[in-house]
Order: sequence, then C-alpha cells, then structure tokens
Amino acid sequence: MSLDVVSIRRQFPILDREVRPGIKVVYLDSTATSQKPEPVIEAMNEYYRRFNANIHRGVHTLAEEATAAYELAREKIAKFINAPAAREIIYTRNTTESINLVAYTWARANLKAGDLVILTEMEHHSNLVPWHILAAERGIRLEFIPVTNDGLLDLDVYRSLLSQDPKLVSFTHMSNVLGTITPAAEIIKLAHEAGAITVVDGAQSVPHLKVDVQKLDADFLAFSAHKMCGPTGIGALYGKADLLEAMPPFMGGGDMIKEVKLRSFRPNSIPAKFEAGTPAIAESVGFGAAVDFLTSIGMENVAAHEHEITEYALERLEEIPGVKVFGPSADKKGGVASFTFDGVHPHDVAQILDRDGIAVRAGHHCAQPLHEKFGIPATTRASFYLYSTKDEVDKLVEGIYKVKKVFG
Ligand code: ALA
Repeated sequence: MSLDVVSIRRQFPILDREVRPGIKVVYLDSTATSQKPEPVIEAMNEYYRRFNANIHRGVHTLAEEATAAYELAREKIAKFINAPAAREIIYTRNTTESINLVAYTWARANLKAGDLVILTEMEHHSNLVPWHILAAERGIRLEFIPVTNDGLLDLDVYRSLLSQDPKLVSFTHMSNVLGTITPAAEIIKLAHEAGAITVVDGAQSVPHLKVDVQKLDADFLAFSAHKMCGPTGIGALYGKADLLEAMPPFMGGGDMIKEVKLRSFRPNSIPAKFEAGTPAIAESVGFGAAVDFLTSIGMENVAAHEHEITEYALERLEEIPGVKVFGPSADKKGGVASFTFDGVHPHDVAQILDRDGIAVRAGHHCAQPLHEKFGIPATTRASFYLYSTKDEVDKLVEGIYKVKKVFG
C-alpha cells in the first residue's frame, strides 16, 4: 500500500512553514531529528493542560493519571518493538544515554582488562566514545568490523573476530551516514554462538523499519523518540529482563530505590531501578503518541515509502556530474543520501540549499571515523521520512545545480 503523503503532511504543521517570505521549508534532515505530527504535539499539550503531576509519588487524581499515562506509553513502546514485557523498556534521555547505561552498568559489572568488545567502523560517536572511556578505564580491547567500499559490513572479518572470545558486540542497525541496513539478526546469532551479548543501536532503524526484538533476539536495543515523530529529551533502552535484573543501577536518586538508610539502599525492581529522579513525563506521553501515530500508518508502509523516495533520490543525484553518493544501493539502505559535490565544501552546499529553504545536514554527522575511512572530512546529507516527497527530491537536485552555478 502506498502512503497518502498529502494527508500525512497535513498533520505536520511545520512542513507548511515558510523559512523566508514565499520560501517553504523542504525538510530533508529527518535523520538528525524528525518533525512532529499534531497528535504528538496535542498529547503533550493535553498532559500539561489537564494532568501534569509527578509520577509514582502522589495519591491524588492528577498524580494517578500522570503515572498511568507514563506507564501506558511504556506499554505502547514495548508493543511497538515486540518486547515480551513493558518492564524491559527503560526510559532514558536518548540513544546515547541508553548505550551509556549499558556501558556504565552491564559492562562495568562484567568486563575486565583484556576483554574484547566488537564494534563496527560505521558507528556514530554514541556507540564509540562510551567504549573508548571504558577502554581507558578498564583496559578492555576494541575491535571493529570493517566497512567495505560499497558501505557494507565485512562479515568475514567479523567471523574471524568472533574466534577471539568477545564478550560484547555493539553495532548500528542502520548507519546514519551511509543508510546501510546491517544484517542484525545474523550478527546477533553469530555473537550468541560465540558467547557474547549484543547491543543494537536502533536510533535510525526503529523510526524507519519494523524492528522486532524477539525476532532479532537482541539483548539490548537503544533508540530515541525524537527521530520517530516524538519529542526530544526521551529515548528508550530495551533489555532482556534477566540481564536488566542482574545489572547494578545506573544513577542514584528517588524512584530507583526500594528502601534507603543513612548508609545504604536497596534498589527498586526494573524498570524503576534505572529511572532515578523525576523523569520526562510529558515526553513519555508524546513518545506514546508517536508510537500510536506510526502504528496507525504501519511501519511496513513507512519503510516502503522511504524506499521509493530513496531509490528516486539516488537515481537523480547520480545524474548530476560531480556528485558522489556514499553507501550501498537503495535495496540495502534506508532513507539517507550522503554525498560530496565536486570539491565544494558540504557547509557551502548546505548554505546555498538553505537559500531555497532546503534543510540538509553538512559535516561528519557524529561519525568522524567513518568519514576518515572514506578519506573525506565531511559530506552533505539529505535524509527522508514518511512525509518526504519526490517533489522535494527534485528541489534538492535543482538546488545542487544552483550550487554548481555559484561555484562555477
Ligand atoms: N546522529 C544524529 C544524526 O545523524 C544526530 O544527525
């Protein structure tokens, strides 16, 4: 089924915005953050207008309603990724905090000097730096699954790394630069056969594909609401219950305890054990509304639409002399097109595109080592979502021709 993009776009008020008189925004930066539909904005407004209160603390009506909404959103998120139980969903601030949670709790409780953690060369900084910090502190060893010239993971090297007794494999499910969709189920199966546990960075996959943690058999999955039509400031970590239960707490404070004495405490059960302090309550309500919104459209339909737009975008971009798009062909990637253009610096490309309201990201996209691998400091990145249209791709292409004119 193809999406009714016209009616979807009507639900995103920002897409009607003129960035300058007569110049409508052409938003091609959803990989950085997606736009938010009315039902998400309204759900958060309604929370503040009708039942704002702190959760898990009060017995009054507003507190009970706020607590119920916070927990209902957790159930919706669990169902969205087919987690067996809602208590396996930990609210965090974002993907970065979710990965750090694993690094600070599971990893510090289980890894010692010399233990091997396998990452990939296509990780963004959130799935590199927490492990660098741990390597400096604990002396763990890091090895990387290489990226091939066409932007795929070299699984032969992965298989040979697995013979070195890794304890953890942490990898992206979809590259935020190349768009590559990695063979997550296979990577996880091989990791488990080698006795390692797995962290899946789902920042880009959960918003764009149907992700099923039980089918993947993922041990941990990290993702952010703001990339999937939800608000900023909230994300989630899915973890298998037995792993979460055995892990020490992350941050200390209210709500994450069962009992506190002057010199000791007993941690709460999951998920509260990992949710210290007053959380992002309005944002949880918005997160739940975002999941409802995407569910009502159907993730298969979202993915199919993005595939169509990406295929078209790659075709049109590759027509332009001097444009080089990085990453695999459309059938192996999500809605991302990162490119270089004839020696023009990506920041200049982005600035000239912005004159026509075209919003793209320029830089290393928080994935510096991957750019180094390809021998370039930066790319211009156009990225697509369920509201993107072929007409917007055409505007991008016209915009690049204008860049050519400016730079001769
Ligand atoms: N990782 C996000 C991006 O790719 C912020 O833009």
